Amino acid sequence: MGQQDNRPVMITLEDATKVYTSGGEEVSAIDGVRLEVNQGDYVAVVGHSGSGKTTLVSVMGGLTRPTRGTVKVEGTDIWSLDNRELARLRSERIGFCFQFPSLISTLNCIDNVRLPASFAGGDGGVDAAMELLERVSVAEKARAFPKELSGGQQRRVAIARALFNRPRIILADEPTGDLDEDTEEDIMELFDEVNGEGVTIVMVTHSRRLARRAARVLTMENGTLAENGAGSREA
Ligand SMILES: Nc1ncnc2c1ncn2[C@@H]1O[C@H](COP(=O)(O)OP(=O)(O)O)[C@@H](O)[C@H]1O
Ligand SMILES: [Mg+2]
Repeated sequence: MGQQDNRPVMITLEDATKVYTSGGEEVSAIDGVRLEVNQGDYVAVVGHSGSGKTTLVSVMGGLTRPTRGTVKVEGTDIWSLDNRELARLRSERIGFCFQFPSLISTLNCIDNVRLPASFAGGDGGVDAAMELLERVSVAEKARAFPKELSGGQQRRVAIARALFNRPRIILADEPTGDLDEDTEEDIMELFDEVNGEGVTIVMVTHSRRLARRAARVLTMENGTLAENGAGSREA
């Protein structure tokens, strides 16, 4: 969309629609969304609360099955995969950063970050996990458990975990919601950095200010997505 270049398409949505039924009423959380995201894009999705932003990224990331329409990740129609294949695609290619980090309370920070590797048994990934914890500035908490961390520190650990498998795509839903400004800035800088390394980012935010850091800004309104034109980088 828009850009004339040869970068491969990472994510494609065609007519993506999710209808929820609640209290006997049908709500189209997203309605006929069409979108192409290219490799290396940094896309911000803004919109009012309830406009469908979370539904959009969960449908895109293989977490919520659309009622109709197609979602392709690097050409694979993800909703035609079986659960195992889909889980594998998610863990290999997508790093999820959500507003409420779901760290495992019985594991220390290193083990939370290297969780994907720990399924294979042994202590694989300890060095890589440590490196990521350094990158998000919580290395000193490496052996601490989630409950011993502040909310901002937990979020940092969750982001380190999202990066562990070297995902080609990051899907972030209000990744800095209710964080202090320093942590917010650190996380935004980290996103700039990984985007500079070629990682494709789709970030939901209610903050126009944060959205300006993305090269491409989309607005959700009542389940419909609209392109805003170039963000501040091009402006
Ligand atoms: N699990 C659900 N069951 C019923 N309705 C839902 C569910 N999830 C979201 N919705 C509805 O879909 C719409 C979009 O929600 P959501 O995607 O969470 O928006 P946003 O993230 O922009 O706040 C809202 O009207 C919301 O109430
Ligand atoms: Mg939301």
